[in-house]
Amino acid sequence: MAGCFRGYAQSQPAAADEEIARIEPGTPAGEYYRRFWHPVYITEELGDLPEAIRILGEDLVLFRYGEQRDQIGLVHKHCLHRRASLEYGKCEDNGIRCCYHGWLFAPDGEILEMPAENSRTADMLRKRTRLGAYPVVEYRGLIFTYMGPPELQPEFPVYDACIYEGMTSVAYKAPYRCNWIQILDAILDPTHTTYLHSRNSHPQFSEGMKADGVLKFYERHENHFLGSATRRVGDNVWVRVNELILPNFTQAGSAFAVDGMRQCYFGRSCFTRWVVPVDDENSVVYAWANFGSRWDPHQYNTKEGREMIEQGEVLDRSLQEKKRFPADSEAVEGMGGLPIQYKLGLDF
Ligand code: FES
Ligand SMILES: [Fe+2]
Repeated sequence: MAGCFRGYAQSQPAAADEEIARIEPGTPAGEYYRRFWHPVYITEELGDLPEAIRILGEDLVLFRYGEQRDQIGLVHKHCLHRRASLEYGKCEDNGIRCCYHGWLFAPDGEILEMPAENSRTADMLRKRTRLGAYPVVEYRGLIFTYMGPPELQPEFPVYDACIYEGMTSVAYKAPYRCNWIQILDAILDPTHTTYLHSRNSHPQFSEGMKADGVLKFYERHENHFLGSATRRVGDNVWVRVNELILPNFTQAGSAFAVDGMRQCYFGRSCFTRWVVPVDDENSVVYAWANFGSRWDPHQYNTKEGREMIEQGEVLDRSLQEKKRFPADSEAVEGMGGLPIQYKLGLDF
């Protein structure tokens, strides 16, 4: 009996899955991420002051510029001169001006002005040096950027899910205190909808989800996958399909509109969503929640409703509520900040 207890044998901390988890520049996952456009902010939350943000382990500053302040720039956080934070900079017509000695940077990082630096060396420096900057596209309430090599920049992606008639899409975000892969993993994991979202709590989405589904997975292209869960609900057969395009684009069958109890054909995705790493141990989901007759009902188009579509419950809850009715945040944050190499206690 005594030999059965394996606490001591397994007490060494497990190694992090470095190849997948790390997203700084130069890491395998970090470089892969840096070949795609990602949302990094909600347009209406960017006011007249610059905002410091952290994306893919890089500290950046997002700001408005232009005469109407209707254009958006994204630059490295620290000024080239003495590293003052441009979070305290001034938004101007042509770019952002550092608060400390007034250097003015264009949105592409060009140094436009270096007050008090009049030497030829300074002029040469101005022409040869740039602040780090990234291109920005504002689209349907989200601000996107591309952080990879300019020569490999892909076209900005507009999926069919962005342009359906009759759909109301509302931008939202949800922070998670864990690595990106732990959040992404759930999209092709229909088993957790049966247990986490139904049987182990209360029906967070619908009664129909309590049934165990028959699972199937499809590889459409090299980085594009679909997963289906087919459930028998009364006399109906309910097929719920989720979608993943690597590294981080996800869509899922409606959360509340369809429950398998009544006939409903070809519903659309409840959200159109990206899992964006802040750093190795923090992430933010940026997404549109989709509403309409083939999407989720408009009554869920509230802050709370969008959070429920995102993860089954509202985000701001007491610890006791989280324990009684755990949702996606509890499941994926509870794993710890970094994904480990799973061994399940076996000696491989
Ligand atoms: S630190 Fe920015 S201008 Fe000097
Ligand atoms: Fe979930």
